[in-house]
Parts: sequence; structure tokens; C-alpha cells
Amino acid sequence: MRNCEIRLALSAGEIQMALRLRREVFVAEQGMFEQSDADDHDSSSLFLNAWRSGSILMGTVRCYSDPHEEGIWWGGRLAVVEKYRLRGVGVYLIEAAVEEMKRRGAKRFFAKVQKQNVKLFEKLGWQASGDAFMIEEHPHQLMEADLHVHDEQARKRRLPVRN
Ligand SMILES: CC(C)(COP(=O)(O)OP(=O)(O)OC[C@H]1O[C@@H](n2cnc3c(N)ncnc32)[C@H](O)[C@@H]1OP(=O)(O)O)[C@@H](O)C(=O)NCCC(=O)NCCS
Repeated sequence: MRNCEIRLALSAGEIQMALRLRREVFVAEQGMFEQSDADDHDSSSLFLNAWRSGSILMGTVRCYSDPHEEGIWWGGRLAVVEKYRLRGVGVYLIEAAVEEMKRRGAKRFFAKVQKQNVKLFEKLGWQASGDAFMIEEHPHQLMEADLHVHDEQARKRRLPVRN
């Protein structure tokens, strides 16, 4: 997608926009949470946001370091506004998160992925680990990014650019 810029949220306002988008997706659309999907990890998370024309928020993802194990990071709350889906924004966000983890010297990068999205992550070189489990009555799969070969794989598998 040509008109898509991924940026780390640098202001409280940009984080609030990301939280609002997440609420639309995980509360209103999916009904995964009743009131709010915000949790304790948000205060220590970095937020990567996908912008159209600089100011229209199309998608978001958060990353936080594990509070107990140094070098371990978690990605999550990946969400793209419904009308901007299937244009590659989700892929850009996942790839940007992996790049950010590499820049920060993460040793391992995990995500609890909704079952229907496992294939999308596999295409990007992530590997499933263990059995599926339930979060808020939705099946999830623990997955891990390959922080070492992701660049090469992403180049080979680069998805066609869509507009
Ligand atoms: C999952 C989500 C973030 C994907 O975002 P997106 O911008 O639509 O993804 P992309 O356009 O980058 O899709 C990349 C590929 O995955 C496929 N894909 C995306 N979502 C899919 C889904 N739910 N089921 C099957 N395939 C899917 C696309 O068809 C595309 O494949 P292709 O390139 O072979 O055509 C988005 O659908 C979303 O916000 N869903 C609701 C919230 C959610 O499930 N979050 C993830 C929690 S783990």
C-alpha cells in the first residue's frame, strides 16, 4: 500500500487514538472484552501506528518487554480499521514490530495470536508453539517471530503492493 506510514507513537494523543481504535475492534466489533481491552501492559508499551496521509489512523500494534524475563518482548493488540483491511496494513505493522524488536536487541519476541490469524503470521516467518488456548473465550496460539532470518524471508515473501 503506497499511502501508509508506520510510526512509533510519540505523544499521549497518538496513544489515545490507538487505544480508541483498539476499543472499536476488540470491544465493539469482536466482543472480546465487555468494556475495554486496555490493561496494565499499556503503560509500559510502545505503540506502532499506521497512518494514511499522515493523520488518518489505519492500524496499531503494541509491544512490551516481559516484566520478569529480560530480553523477552510481547507483541499484541494488533488491529486495523475495518475499511482499511486486506491492503497490507496488518503485514506492515507486524514487520515494523519485528524490526523495532531487532533495533532494541530483543532476544525473543512472542505474541498470543487469534487462531484465525495464525496463517498470516506463519507467512511472515513466525512459528507456533504448543497447543491453542482460550483468552476471553476466543482461541489463541502462542507464536514466536524469527528475529534472525525475518529480513530475508520478508524479502522473498514480499506481498504484492495493493492500494
Ligand atoms: C488481523 C488483521 C490485523 C489483519 O490486518 P489486514 O490489514 O487486513 O492484513 P493484511 O491486509 O496485511 O493481510 C495480509 C494477508 O493476510 C490475509 N488475512 C488477513 N486477515 C485475515 C483473516 N482474518 N483471515 C484470513 N486471512 C486473512 C490477507 O488475505 C492477506 O493475505 P494475502 O496477501 O495472501 O491476500 C485485521 O484483520 C484485524 O484488525 N482484525 C481484527 C482484530 C484481530 O483479529 N487482530 C489480531 C489479533 S491476533
